[in-house]
Amino acid sequence: MKTNNLNNDNKIEEMTDFFNLRARSYDDHMKGVIAGDFNNFYKTISFPIPDTNDIINILDLGCGTGLEIEGIFKKAPNAILTCVDLSSEMLSELKEKYCSYDENIITVEDSYLEFTYKPDKYNFIVSAMTMHHLEQDDKMKVYSSICNSLQKGACYIEGDYVVKRKEEKEIFNEYLALKKIHPEIDNGTYHIDIPFSKETQMKLFQDAGFSRVDIIWEKESSVIFVAHK
Ligand SMILES: C[S@@+](CC[C@H](N)C(=O)[O-])C[C@H]1O[C@@H](n2cnc3c(N)ncnc32)[C@H](O)[C@@H]1O
Repeated sequence: MKTNNLNNDNKIEEMTDFFNLRARSYDDHMKGVIAGDFNNFYKTISFPIPDTNDIINILDLGCGTGLEIEGIFKKAPNAILTCVDLSSEMLSELKEKYCSYDENIITVEDSYLEFTYKPDKYNFIVSAMTMHHLEQDDKMKVYSSICNSLQKGACYIEGDYVVKRKEEKEIFNEYLALKKIHPEIDNGTYHIDIPFSKETQMKLFQDAGFSRVDIIWEKESSVIFVAHK
């Protein structure tokens, strides 16, 4: 995946503007994006979650319109889901889509870089197609908070884009060049794509304190990691 971080007017877009504008058409757009296997990708995100009627706590970071949530409620219909996203319009779509789960969903309009992660709280934390907006320092910060916020033995499930190692370097150098002109882009609130390689991701998870990382999906550029506390 080659990144293009400027829009048609040669501008970098703020994350909220980018997704607020695209919220209505987002789901249809995504059907064409994930390596022709959209349904299986989102279904696989919920694989590590057991079939249970228990009330379990799940945190969804960068939940968007909640594409990953359908599979989660199929397996754990009584789960309490905390859904964090910067975009009010994406969260509105999510609430409309899952109105029958009104009592199970808590939406939080916030950045996952600023969110208050309570220690040992969640049975599962998930994120889909969102962490590629962060550079390594910010990712490490979020991953450490995630690890700390999981219950003992629980896991973090991340589905995202990855790139080959050579491409990773090119993309990151492109990003650094852009950051020289626009230093404001490094706080996770601009729509910047900085995907890393599978190898870099594995190292980041380990450095953040996860004890083991499995890959449960790998197709073209999309990968699903399961990082165990
Ligand atoms: C490509 S969408 C993915 C949405 C959903 N998880 C999915 O797979 O369809 C990325 C989402 O992450 C959100 N996002 C990006 N950076 C964020 C941040 N720092 N904090 C919270 N949400 C963020 C965006 O607003 C957007 O809704």
